[in-house]
Amino acid sequence: MPISVEALRQQLRETLEFLRSRTTLEPRIGIILGTGLGALAEDIELSQVVPYQEIPHFPLSTVEGHSGRLLFGHLEGHPVVAMQGRFHYYEGYTMQQITYPVRVMKKLGVDTLLISNAAGGMNPLFRRGDVMLIVDHINLLGDNPLIGPNDPELGPRFPDMSAPYDPELCRLAEEAALEARIKLQQGVYVAVAGPNLETRAEYRFLRWIGADAVGMSTVPEVIVARHMNMRVLGISVITDECFPEALKPLTHEEVVAAAQEAEPKMTEIFRRVLRKLSR
Ligand code: HPA
Repeated sequence: MPISVEALRQQLRETLEFLRSRTTLEPRIGIILGTGLGALAEDIELSQVVPYQEIPHFPLSTVEGHSGRLLFGHLEGHPVVAMQGRFHYYEGYTMQQITYPVRVMKKLGVDTLLISNAAGGMNPLFRRGDVMLIVDHINLLGDNPLIGPNDPELGPRFPDMSAPYDPELCRLAEEAALEARIKLQQGVYVAVAGPNLETRAEYRFLRWIGADAVGMSTVPEVIVARHMNMRVLGISVITDECFPEALKPLTHEEVVAAAQEAEPKMTEIFRRVLRKLSR
């Protein structure tokens, strides 16, 4: 059940009070990185690291190996906050839990969100290892983080979604890719719940409804970011080719390996975009 407006306000106040007691840094840029794409976070000149389990009202990461941390510091001269470890719907979190950190980021002063994911490529022109600028999305998660009472202080009841991915940031990303001689595909990202990968019939369906890449994240965070009027730049790393007539079996390990291989391209584009943004 979604929580009440007053309860969410109270939670955000408590989370903010705690984080303010830990750091004086006032981040303007928020960063959420996808599976196998964490290297950009390692480039941050850290000023504070806060494990999720210490943060009041933060969900806890289920991924083995690291419990999740919020990183505060500077990247390309910008004060940033980054999530090391994100939350997925298939892990059993509610949409409100998945997107709570985005609300916290906004309250901390973040107005620009950089977000990435590992995705399957369905556009036949895409190849494994490509990077794709997300220009639009389709929400097929069957759920929405804005369901429940709306707090007008956070955002409108019926937020506009005519341009969820900021056209100016998209332009800067294209410019950055051109300068770095990186081939940057463009396309529509569709979010599904997972955790299984798609059947051939499902890939055919997803392609047919207009999606170029498919994954299991990002859309909830972007919906909430737009609800709170943040600018969003999204990049997918294409980890596998999802062509229904030529589909090969795929393991999660292969997805992670492909993401890690292609990651430097994504990192380079994000860094260059940050350099182009005034501080
Ligand atoms: N489907 C869904 N999510 C994914 C895929 C896919 O093919 N590849 C990487 N993430």
